Amino acid sequence: MKIQSNSYLFIKLLTLHSLLVLSTSQDFDFFYLVQQWPGSYCDSKQGCCYPSTGKPTSDFGVHGLWPNRKDGSYPSSCNSSNPFDASKISDLTGRMQSEWPTLSCPSNNGLTFWGHEWNKHGTCSESVLNQHDYFATTLSLKKKLNLLKALTTAGIKPNGQKYSLSSITTAIKQASGYTPWIECNNDSSKNSQLYQIYVCVDSSASGFIECPVFPKGSCGSSIEFPSF
Ligand SMILES: *[C@@H]1O[C@H](CO)[C@@H](O)[C@H](O)[C@H]1NC(C)=O
Ligand SMILES: *[C@@H]1O[C@H](CO)[C@@H](O)[C@H](O)[C@H]1NC(C)=O
Repeated sequence: MKIQSNSYLFIKLLTLHSLLVLSTSQDFDFFYLVQQWPGSYCDSKQGCCYPSTGKPTSDFGVHGLWPNRKDGSYPSSCNSSNPFDASKISDLTGRMQSEWPTLSCPSNNGLTFWGHEWNKHGTCSESVLNQHDYFATTLSLKKKLNLLKALTTAGIKPNGQKYSLSSITTAIKQASGYTPWIECNNDSSKNSQLYQIYVCVDSSASGFIECPVFPKGSCGSSIEFPSF
């Protein structure tokens, strides 16, 4: 009797332990793939610096792939024992420089930006994507989407003109099949402009899904799309 209840307790503890391990190894429900328009990053109060490799092309650049929870919260900086190691993505450097360019000042080669993204966000999805695959998968998801083409096909061009939020959302939904979320910032004269585009990716990072929840915030009713 005594032995029986002890082993019962032991099994319960084991089960509890594996549940805890499972829940800490994947403490998120989906990802946001976030891309930024360089013209809007630069055309703001803070300004920008081109990377040491030169001015990026006139295209959306990756900001990051961010694990998120259905309740809108997100895990952050999950494993300081696995810091960013540039040697793990040396095969991706050329693509990183063109698709994931840094715009922060002072001018630099991008390693600080990529390291920040891995340390803050990537370490929270380690159970799904190791360091190399976190960056490689993000690059291939970006390639599948082609946001600039989706917008220009609908007549929405980076020419300094203003567009409605619904026309931007609709253009991306038509091209990709999924509803994006649009984040705006302000230019130095307080015009609302198209800053970042969020789409959602399933928790195994295999493809796009409708977003379980959108971030908070809103754009002005008419949104400038600055040139770059
Ligand atoms: C954190 O990183 C270390 C070193 O790579 C690894 O051994 C460990 O399993 C990681 N922890 C989690 C929770 O993924
Ligand atoms: C942009 O400017 C407006 C008006 O001053 C302000 O209410 C809003 O918070 C600003 N938006 C951002 C993203 O800074």
